[in-house]
Amino acid sequence: EEQESPFLPLKGKRVVVTAGPTRERVDPVRFFTNFSTGKMGYAFARKAKELGAEVTLISGPVSISEPLGVKVIQTESAHDMYEAVMKELPQSDIVIKTAAVADYRPATPLDQKMKKKEGSLSIEMERTTDILGEIGKAKTNQFVVGFAAETTEPITYAKQKLIKKNANAIVVNNVSEAGAGFGTDTNIVTYINGSGLEWNLPLQSKEDVAYQILIQVANELKDGHT
Ligand code: CTP
Ligand code: CA
Repeated sequence: EEQESPFLPLKGKRVVVTAGPTRERVDPVRFFTNFSTGKMGYAFARKAKELGAEVTLISGPVSISEPLGVKVIQTESAHDMYEAVMKELPQSDIVIKTAAVADYRPATPLDQKMKKKEGSLSIEMERTTDILGEIGKAKTNQFVVGFAAETTEPITYAKQKLIKKNANAIVVNNVSEAGAGFGTDTNIVTYINGSGLEWNLPLQSKEDVAYQILIQVANELKDGHT
């Protein structure tokens, strides 16, 4: 009997996925973070593995179990994630940047627990490194997919991010739509690439979103992207 050959469009490809939130410490017991759960990124890591890729998952703190057969690098802050990503970049073919990276961090994190005082509190914040922006500057042949979470004018902002960060594609989700964004098992996204494609993916599981986008990226790589 003839054996059906597996569908492995990412065979031989090295895929790096970043997922989850970052934590930016205020003191030893407190941090700034966001609502990212890592579901979208972990779905990408699992699907890329199923499609034949060698996968490295760079993860912020989440409570999802590590996908089998995937190299997982655990990180905490935006700075940790930046260092891990830049180390993996030279030996990668595809970079999928789903992580919700903090834009700011406390300028002077404290070594001792902060004690409360009368009155209000201000914490001075400074910018973190834009990891996707740095990838955009450093990349050679890698196909880089950025993400954008927007609450207004998703397409306009996504197009600006595509150009500004020199990404090959941006996947944008309007986080104020029902069934999209943080913590849900489903997503509604638009995939935008440098050739002007604006592809709307209707409401579906994050697994299916990951699958469809990975097939698209595999095809764009095959056709020779710039
Ligand atoms: N990103 C990153 N490093 C940061 C901030 C964002 O790599 N310090 C990446 C995210 O992982 C995502 C993309 O940039 O893939 C877009 O993130 P988003 O927060 O939507 O855009 P920003 O450029 O941070 O702009 P803003 O938050 O002002 O909309
Ligand atoms: Ca941001």
